Amino acid sequence: MTKSALFVCLGNICRSPIAEAVFGQVVKDRGVESEWKIDSAALGGWHVGNPPDSRASKILKNHGISYQGRARQIEDNDFKEFDYIFGMDNNNISNLREQQPKGSKAKVLLLGDFDPEGDKIIRDPYYDSGSEGFEKCYQQCMRACNGFLDQIKEKKI
Ligand code: 4NP
Repeated sequence: MTKSALFVCLGNICRSPIAEAVFGQVVKDRGVESEWKIDSAALGGWHVGNPPDSRASKILKNHGISYQGRARQIEDNDFKEFDYIFGMDNNNISNLREQQPKGSKAKVLLLGDFDPEGDKIIRDPYYDSGSEGFEKCYQQCMRACNGFLDQIKEKKI
């Protein structure tokens, strides 16, 4: 059966496209790509239709991952469509919990909770002057996506 994961941050141009692209790469590497439907979305509407921030695109390219997505805003229907909705920080989680329609199936989870190194918060690098925060985001996403898929495999979640 197909499982589905939606990665969400504030703008859908920095953290969540990186998380989506990393998750896509990891399921490919694990040979379970066909089992997953994957997307990302924003809580806010400011960047709808835009490609990722150039620093996010560069980090993905540096790591050999291509990404074609454009920003979109999360809709109520996403909570019915997706099994897992990941937020990047605690603000994302409280906004998602507020928006989640009653009785919808999505599990709202903090992505960093699956990082075996315990680095729970994927902080917003948008206002940074450089790209270090983007590389850190990539590394956190890589560890957490693998950690999450390990738990799925072990049927812990
Ligand atoms: P993201 O970063 O949530 O990781 O995509 C942000 C991008 C844009 C804004 C905030 C955060 N913004 O306020 O425009």
